[in-house]
Amino acid sequence: MLSLAACSSDASANGDCNVGISMPTRSLERWINDGEQLQKQLEEADCTVDLQYADNKTSQQISQIQNQIAGGAQVLVIAPIDGEALGPVLDQAKKQDAVVISYDRLIEGTENVDYLATFDNFQVGELQGKYIEEQLGLADGAGPFNFEPFTGSPDDPNAGFFFSGAWDVLLPYVENGQLVVRSGKSPASNKDWASIGIPGWASDKAQAEMDNRLSSFYTGSDKVDAILSPNDSLAIGIIASLNSASYSPGDEYPIITGQDADKANVKAILDGKQSMTVLKDTRELGDRVFQMIQSIIAGDEPETTDTETYDNGKKVVPAFVLTPLVVTKDDVQTKLIDSGFIDAKDVGL
Ligand code: BGC
Repeated sequence: MLSLAACSSDASANGDCNVGISMPTRSLERWINDGEQLQKQLEEADCTVDLQYADNKTSQQISQIQNQIAGGAQVLVIAPIDGEALGPVLDQAKKQDAVVISYDRLIEGTENVDYLATFDNFQVGELQGKYIEEQLGLADGAGPFNFEPFTGSPDDPNAGFFFSGAWDVLLPYVENGQLVVRSGKSPASNKDWASIGIPGWASDKAQAEMDNRLSSFYTGSDKVDAILSPNDSLAIGIIASLNSASYSPGDEYPIITGQDADKANVKAILDGKQSMTVLKDTRELGDRVFQMIQSIIAGDEPETTDTETYDNGKKVVPAFVLTPLVVTKDDVQTKLIDSGFIDAKDVGL
């Protein structure tokens, strides 16, 4: 473990608590909240913090991390853009004994990652899959329904976990014909998820993809009944596409899943344009990472809950795994507003 003095006021006055935080993009609300909350907590503990966002560009993320290493970072908190691209820069980090915490997403293909703090990403997908199963009554044999699955960015390892969780629930219904994927964009198995991935989790790319599927496979009176969207940014694009194809909220409107509880999506849920989102309370994740950093700096081993699952190809990374939660129209108030995750006025309540 590294030889750090305590991250107390005294220690930081001596420059002893230096943390680099590297987040993927400002284009998604969640990463802004994640980064700013952790920065605030660390600064209140008198740490020096460099918080950077990399515009979803791997080369930019690498050079930002290089700068943080050059600036003497003793702890690096990194949510990787490309799970497999950070090996060389983390070799440099290890030369100065920096401790590396993989944030939300697993850093792959390197031994130089010490801990992972994340939500149960398989469970995120499972919650989405089970929601579709329940709403359509699939377990009772209902169907056939028209169904379109989407998956996240091919370079993001989380996207594979989300899909596996959902596909374990839904694939049997695709195979027995209760769910019909007219576009044919239906991965044959969990490991084929990247074949339909939306690069960079971009809303406009999801919109273009949904436009294509609707205009090619849903002509005349054929309607889509359910869409597996792994997160809220994709859901925004899918909703825009449905909107321009004249779908409007009501009985005929498809089920659409999501993840993150972004404000625009919570509004869409209240307006009947999105069915659910999966909340991963970023405040819990930030608190956990803050506690990890405090332990590291005190010379203690941070608490982890899973030392078996997160194999990054070079090692099994010890992880602290948090629990995600489904939010629908009925519990926006209790789960998001009463808990202070979002302000009522930001979603028009
Ligand atoms: C995160 C999601 C997020 C997505 C796009 C994933 O790795 O876990 O919360 O929606 O990236 O940024």
